[in-house]
Amino acid sequence: MMLILSYCQDALEKLLLSPSIGTESSLPLLTTAVVLAIVLVLYFRNMNSSKVIGDKTLPPMAPYSFLETVKTLSTSDAPWFYQRIARSEIGTVFRLQLFPFGFGPDVVIAGDPKLAQSVLRNSTNLKPAFIYKSVIRGPTLFTAEGGRWHHARKATAPAFSSKHIQKMNVTVLEQVTKWIQEDLVPNYVEKEASFDIASVFLRQMLKGISVAGFEYEMSDDECEEFLLELKIATLARSHNPITKIVSPFTSVGRRSNLAVDRNREFAKKVLEHYRSLECPNDGTIISMIANNANYESDEERIGDIMVFYLAGHDTTAFSLAWTLLELAKNQSEQTKLRSALRNTPREEWKNLVELRCVLKEGLRLHPVAAGGSWRVLSDDINTDKYFLAKGSIIAIPFLVVHRNKEYMDKP
Ligand code: HEM
Repeated sequence: MMLILSYCQDALEKLLLSPSIGTESSLPLLTTAVVLAIVLVLYFRNMNSSKVIGDKTLPPMAPYSFLETVKTLSTSDAPWFYQRIARSEIGTVFRLQLFPFGFGPDVVIAGDPKLAQSVLRNSTNLKPAFIYKSVIRGPTLFTAEGGRWHHARKATAPAFSSKHIQKMNVTVLEQVTKWIQEDLVPNYVEKEASFDIASVFLRQMLKGISVAGFEYEMSDDECEEFLLELKIATLARSHNPITKIVSPFTSVGRRSNLAVDRNREFAKKVLEHYRSLECPNDGTIISMIANNANYESDEERIGDIMVFYLAGHDTTAFSLAWTLLELAKNQSEQTKLRSALRNTPREEWKNLVELRCVLKEGLRLHPVAAGGSWRVLSDDINTDKYFLAKGSIIAIPFLVVHRNKEYMDKP
């Protein structure tokens, strides 16, 4: 209650003191104030710590209001917000108020690995599109459901067969070797200068995916522009429904839309470039998107091209950067891995236990999709403790799952 009151007070103070009342920028504040008044009235109805339906108990409700919740979930603190709740007496499975006034389906955070696994393994549980839209716009592999998702996913899956992965590896290895010889060694190693490894990997991955998967060589400028526009679009992204409604009327919202337009323009260029090739390669991601007649339009193809550029680059770049940081902090593990790599031919690295363990531990400690996957339940779930109703929205925050004390001695 105190949180709501302080939020109200804060919003009203800003509203009354704001020199911009009546201008475009006061619109979100006015809307927020009206909604806050309604929230106050309905607040108590929605703050039950637990809910019982018949003889079945829903997971406990986290003690945060709707506004507190959406405010936090719209920031990079979201995974740690889940983790703080999971480490409190509430436990690793709990509900959140993601919809105002108790309307909407239950939203359950599943930080328990077994529950998470059963939700993700059931392919009839679909993704809630409203969570995945935003930085791409229009239907994509990420946001689509049913047949649309199926044809796009199935159509591109062969591009990830081991044969094609090996081909992509060769292309990426050539590119990374060039970077090591022409940039890393002369500019950093020999001069003993430091650099931001994550930032370098982001660019290397983006260019690597572009060449290996799309037969398109991204220039340095295109790379910088893509990353900048993506950052602008992502920063403006919000789970707050009020922000979403007013977004088209604010300069931040309009700039974010422009950022999405610009990156879609880039994806369109990639598609046109592929179509202009005289002898394109078979089995690339772009060949499977461009030649798939199930797409209804190029707009849809452009959406999926964006998905691969987005989903592939920062996930891999940050996972590798975090893993290297962990190795730097754990010298004995680093020495073990280095000697294992030196004593094993390169072609056999993919089976090297030491390498596999280091990569898995890096991914466990620093899951890039830390905020997690979301699904809508297609059927009821009964665990030994809780009942989750069909239609509930389930979020699986990998940070909480991977660091669950019940399953790990040193999470
Ligand atoms: C360390 C590297 C990576 C990690 C940790 C990672 C993680 C994930 C996770 C957790 C999801 C599920 C998202 C969800 O269900 O909400 C996902 C989906 C996806 N990822 Fe990755 N990913 C990585 C690399 C890549 C790469 C290199 C590509 C392609 C070039 C890629 C393409 C995709 C696509 C297309 C999806 C959506 C699949 C679907 O909806 O059916 N990912 N990834």
